[in-house]
Amino acid sequence: MSGRHFLQIPGPTNVPDRVLRAIAQPTIDHRGPAFADLAREVLDGVREIFKTTGAVVIYPSSGTGAWEAALVNTLSPSDRILMFETGHFATLWRNMAERLGLDVDFVPGDWRHGVDPALVESKLRDDRSRAIKAVAVVHNETSTGVASRIAEIRGAMDRADHPALLLVDTISSLGSIDYRHDEWRVDVTISCSQKGLMLPPGLGFNAISAKARAASAEARLPRAYWDWAPMLADNSSGFFPYTPATNLLYGLREAIAMLRDEGLDRVFARHCRHGEATRRAVRAWGLELVCQNPDEYSSSLTAVMTPDGADADALRRIILEGFDMSLGSGLGKLKGKVFRIGHLGDFNDLMLAGTLSGVEMGMSAARVAFTPGGVLAALDYLAANSELRTENLELRTQKLRTQKLRTQNELRTENFSDAE
Ligand SMILES: Cc1ncc(COP(=O)(O)O)c(C=O)c1O
Repeated sequence: MSGRHFLQIPGPTNVPDRVLRAIAQPTIDHRGPAFADLAREVLDGVREIFKTTGAVVIYPSSGTGAWEAALVNTLSPSDRILMFETGHFATLWRNMAERLGLDVDFVPGDWRHGVDPALVESKLRDDRSRAIKAVAVVHNETSTGVASRIAEIRGAMDRADHPALLLVDTISSLGSIDYRHDEWRVDVTISCSQKGLMLPPGLGFNAISAKARAASAEARLPRAYWDWAPMLADNSSGFFPYTPATNLLYGLREAIAMLRDEGLDRVFARHCRHGEATRRAVRAWGLELVCQNPDEYSSSLTAVMTPDGADADALRRIILEGFDMSLGSGLGKLKGKVFRIGHLGDFNDLMLAGTLSGVEMGMSAARVAFTPGGVLAALDYLAANSELRTENLELRTQKLRTQKLRTQNELRTENFSDAE
């Protein structure tokens, strides 16, 4: 097919040319001085994205590895851990915790809501013997497009005055949705490279609090590859205990620079705006969002229910074959009932317009029952809330301010000459 493929799954996301070019540099000796400079720069720079002043370790791994690292470094066999069924990824993480020999209290959920902070509070208050060692939450459930409210969950833990560690998966939120490791006193933040960080898959991250580090000294789950201790020891001089993903670290350096150039607040605002435009399109089509709580809308992806009887996978196939666009599939119990639109990472208005056009044309081709006009609804919203308008407004205000200053100065000069 001519033209570029539209990769609109909620990760891996489109890798910017700038990052691709950075990755294409020659691989260097990972035990040499040039590597140490690169490693120090990214290990330091990535902390800005997590909003932490503490340590972040970077594994050559997918996100699943970073999940495992968080558990095995902080917990011991049979430790009790509180987890929440927010969707497919929360369920997979629960399965992993069980396989590692943890005692999981898995709070059931309907896959349409995030973690209820009030429930966290009551569960922790009920735990009088302080048996729960960790609370594990998926910030942005990629299977449903529901974002849990981490600041409120932290507040709930504080109100219960419970010492459990807080482990948060930010795999599809980091660099896309506001997140603050230090301010929310998260103990381990888990993430990976292929979503908001705009890199190919292959890097897993753990941001680690002092409390989590202290817990790791006591934790007895077996760990070798994932052990923080040799990683942190070697990282302090810019090295790794085993071969790092050198070229992905070049990419990471570039991605951090891009996020810094745009500014994290602007990055988050851009994702919010694209999320809202997408939801307006979905509503105009007469379709239903998976997420039922407006306070928990994800701004990195939107999961959409197909109308009764319409097979979401057949629709995705028609869109792939007809328009060369990949959309996310329904996962787990949502298989065939849901498609997911990724609007995160290196993404702009016209990419969103193209994406939504592909969905709308695909639904016509697949004879899905819907009301046309979603694309227009999204475009209206984008136009009414355009950065250009805000920037113009800022420029105009600035110009007016300068004019006013100039007039004041002129008046002052005139008065001065009058006085002379
Ligand atoms: C929220 C969330 N957690 C965990 C994972 C697993 O990450 P990976 O597939 O990189 O191992 C994913 C993957 O998409 C995810 O979206």
